[in-house]
Amino acid sequence: MIYLDNAATSFPKPESVYQRISEVLREKGGNPGKASHTLAIEASRIVFRARESVAMLMGVPDSSRIIFTKNATEAINIALKGLLKPGDHLVTSTFEHNAVARCVLRLERSGVEATRVAPDEEGFLSPASIGEAIRRNTRMVVISHASNVFGAIQPLDEIGRICKTKGVIFMSDAAQTMGAMPLDVRGMGVNVLAATGHKALFGPQGTGFLYVEEGIEPEPLVDGGSGGEGAHAAELPERLEAGTLNTPGIGGLGAGVEFLLSEKLPRIKAREEALVDMVLNGISGIERVSLIGPRDASRRAALVSFNIEGVSPSEAGLRLDREFGIMARCGTHCAPEAHRQAGTWPEGSIRVSPGYFTNEGEIEALIRAVKKLASR
Ligand code: ALA
Repeated sequence: MIYLDNAATSFPKPESVYQRISEVLREKGGNPGKASHTLAIEASRIVFRARESVAMLMGVPDSSRIIFTKNATEAINIALKGLLKPGDHLVTSTFEHNAVARCVLRLERSGVEATRVAPDEEGFLSPASIGEAIRRNTRMVVISHASNVFGAIQPLDEIGRICKTKGVIFMSDAAQTMGAMPLDVRGMGVNVLAATGHKALFGPQGTGFLYVEEGIEPEPLVDGGSGGEGAHAAELPERLEAGTLNTPGIGGLGAGVEFLLSEKLPRIKAREEALVDMVLNGISGIERVSLIGPRDASRRAALVSFNIEGVSPSEAGLRLDREFGIMARCGTHCAPEAHRQAGTWPEGSIRVSPGYFTNEGEIEALIRAVKKLASR
């Protein structure tokens, strides 16, 4: 079996992740923050340790600005719905994942205005075009750091500078990049960031987080939480984390982040970049294969979308799995806007996404398989 679907969820995880989840479930099974007995305190420590690790990975000094969520989608919903009001204007791109795109559509129905900026052919946004879209009532710019279809890594630092000059909140959806490359969130001028835990961060599914800079206070999306009468906690992170947390998942996420901290993000990026380069070199010359996104692996997240003329993505996905034992995600990747932009709507594309544990032999097997599919 060759697993090349790490952009959907990473597999396998580091051994320490499995161990931490088991340890939490077997030995630290209290409810964090909901009692003062030993096991509740142990559970709180697990959550605190994970929060500190995530903050360290991102270079954020105050870990209370990290809010745990069940995925990036929930984090995006909290930020967009909790910060934007009717009459506000938002700038986004034409290639967002549904997590952003559908949220923006709903907000538009409630009186928020939105401008969608298109990328160039490879999927890169021009920072100047973002600047030109900002108006008097623009409250926020939200773009994915790397689209899950194009893979192009956006120039967050340049866009961040423009947003800062214009006094606009800059938010990024880093679902495809957090944990896969160094990300100096504050240095790049990103004020709000949503990430998932189960992709490059190596946590289990059901984990993610939202980072919000000091001074930016979204309204809660979910009410409930601890305490007696009156409002739930006034302070972050609890204010946005009503209900019992996914402690085993957050523990696993923490172990994944600790793994990354010890491996070092530049090494992770270099490894995945080399694998992506192999994929690009191996398939770009194959007749009938067309690539989506940048040709330069250093400007890509670790995913490659492509099509084979005469073979639909769904057929290719099925055959890669059944005939070659290769797991790839084929279709529209919950990102119809990106596929419209790429000209691959409605069928979508084949997408392969190596991970840190992928080896060269597996990429060679993929290239052989694509050659066979393209030759029939
Ligand atoms: N959004 C995830 C993907 O790109 C699930 O596959």
